[in-house]
Amino acid sequence: MSTDKPFAGSKDRILFTPGPLTTSRTVKQAMLRDLGSRDHEFIGIVRDVRRRLVMLGDAAESEYTAVLMQGSGTFGLEAVASSTIPQDGKLLVVVNGAYGRRIVRMAAILRIETRVLECPENRKPDLKRLESEVAADPAVSMVAVVHCETTTGIVNPIREIGRIAHAAGVTYFVDAMSSFGAIPVNLRDCHIDYLVSSANKCIEGVPGFAFVLARLAALRETKGCARSLSLDLYDQWAQLEGNGQFRFTPPTHAILAFHQALLELEAEGGVAARAARYESNYRTLVSGMRKLGFQEYLATEDQGYIITSFRYPQDPRFDFGDFYDRLNARGYVIYPGKVSDADCFRIGNIGRIFGSDVEDLLAAIDETLETMGVEMQS
Ligand SMILES: Cc1ncc(COP(=O)(O)O)c(C=O)c1O
Repeated sequence: MSTDKPFAGSKDRILFTPGPLTTSRTVKQAMLRDLGSRDHEFIGIVRDVRRRLVMLGDAAESEYTAVLMQGSGTFGLEAVASSTIPQDGKLLVVVNGAYGRRIVRMAAILRIETRVLECPENRKPDLKRLESEVAADPAVSMVAVVHCETTTGIVNPIREIGRIAHAAGVTYFVDAMSSFGAIPVNLRDCHIDYLVSSANKCIEGVPGFAFVLARLAALRETKGCARSLSLDLYDQWAQLEGNGQFRFTPPTHAILAFHQALLELEAEGGVAARAARYESNYRTLVSGMRKLGFQEYLATEDQGYIITSFRYPQDPRFDFGDFYDRLNARGYVIYPGKVSDADCFRIGNIGRIFGSDVEDLLAAIDETLETMGVEMQS
């Protein structure tokens, strides 16, 4: 099965990013084949991928289905936004970060009437306010939220928001891009109608497609609703269900890699085991960073274990570009910040990385700060 260490014998850097992520060698090796898109073996693999995805959502195939959509994660989000909201529908987006704002922007381009519940980036959404906004606006037909707002690393309460959407009788759309496969979710219990994630996040595949987990009863009602040909979710589903094929060229190699990644997720012990590894990476990272004098952007109780935003040190000798380049030269890739009101950078805990990799990164950060002459406050 999977090799324990990423890139043993290879020169690739370790990606402590929100994606694409470090993947196992065996996931990459799975791509060393050329399968035709109509090949029976390929169609069988797509079928198995879809079945396994529904299982990861803790759901039954009689109630939920998985639709693969070519492109990055945003294409999956746009497939849902553009093809499941009727012309007279209205979207309410809960926003506490850049990815929530991206859904709002998407809806504006699609000319979908939208209401925005804007919350501070360092806070979980105000559920009472959400409840009253949904109640006050009977035109709202869908509520959307981002599960792990990768902007900061905050994990939003999708179960509670689902309860509010369900009680109001509106559909519920969750962007679980950076959480699915690593934070357990039960689609039915959370009242989720559409959940989107992508191949290159916590399932540890390579980029190439997004996937939508859709509640069949909701999806069946969306025939003819699409505002785009290529992103027509219903049509994509109908063809995958019919002859098992994609409507347009599928990312065959990325799907082979993803199938292998799903087998490796199962071998690791499923979502619970992956969650435990990532959480342990997170704990090692945060305790090491605190010892070095760094401060997290979020309060600990709001911080998830997927990705962490750290504030820049106060010493003016700290320059993020220089810090990034020096770490990069040592073989570690971190990520710039995305928070609007503070200078931060981010370190991801996801992908084929282990505690020893995080410890190596911490040692490299320590040495890098020293060579930059940055003094940390204790
Ligand atoms: C929560 C969330 N939504 C959407 C996206 C966009 O995904 P992509 O860059 O694959 O289009 C990301 C990417 O990191 C994300 O973290």
